[in-house]
Amino acid sequence: MANRNLKINIFRYNPAEPEKKPSMASYPFEELPGLTMFTVLNRIREELDRTLVFDFVCRAAICGSCAMIINGKPRLACKTLTKGLPKEITLLPLPVFKLIGDLSVDTGTWFRHISLKTEAWIHTSAKFDPTAVEERMDNETALRIYEPERCIECGCCIAGCATANIRDDFMGAATINRVARFMVDPRDERTPGQYFDVIGCDEGTFGCMGLMACDNNCPMEIPLQYQLAYVRRKMAAFGLGGWKGTGRTGEPQHHRAGRSAS
Ligand code: SF4
Ligand code: F3S
Ligand code: FES
Repeated sequence: MANRNLKINIFRYNPAEPEKKPSMASYPFEELPGLTMFTVLNRIREELDRTLVFDFVCRAAICGSCAMIINGKPRLACKTLTKGLPKEITLLPLPVFKLIGDLSVDTGTWFRHISLKTEAWIHTSAKFDPTAVEERMDNETALRIYEPERCIECGCCIAGCATANIRDDFMGAATINRVARFMVDPRDERTPGQYFDVIGCDEGTFGCMGLMACDNNCPMEIPLQYQLAYVRRKMAAFGLGGWKGTGRTGEPQHHRAGRSAS
């Protein structure tokens, strides 16, 4: 069977040149077996248009830098095969984040901001001893931490969330997931009240409208609906005076069954 002839439509705009209006550019492309959007974009830049701006680092769904809107859905370009897409493919930059140019956005500043805002590090009174032997942790607890920790900060959950799109103060699923990661960590000594101050608000867990696009769009298949429900339950319990402990009970479910990679 002959290879398909694809039409790749790409958003073009450079904020440093505001006199040029945003536009769409189209490039013809012959599909090959196993072709990813990563290869498509690189070949377009190498062979057709040297000025095209987009981000890649790892090419292996690890760094999170190649997220973009591909035919209406936030995805990692390096993980997206053209095979599952129609012949006409439209690429847009992720919304919500600051546009750097064409398909490149600044997710780094956004994620740094929420890391600082949620104090995304272990709060402990234990003194750090560089000579100490590494502390052991039981496998179940380690797995509970590992699940939310798999976030690669790609921004797909934020870009696909209607709430985050209309409210720039909403912290979004990646942030709530990150807070869940520290809540289940027995080394973190924060009290329920301290967590409530961080996330028990309309900008955080109570602003989430349960739209679930975040869960649907996460390329790492982190079970965000469970992480969001876990944090919301804990914060609601604290708000009603029902959560006074350290919060290591009622943990979220950790593994999603029967979901295929996109
Ligand atoms: Fe990306 Fe998933 Fe992390 Fe959101 S939670 S930033 S979609 S890896
Ligand atoms: Fe948005 Fe996910 Fe909540 S899509 S509204 S963060 S469930
Ligand atoms: Fe790193 Fe795609 S290039 S996730």
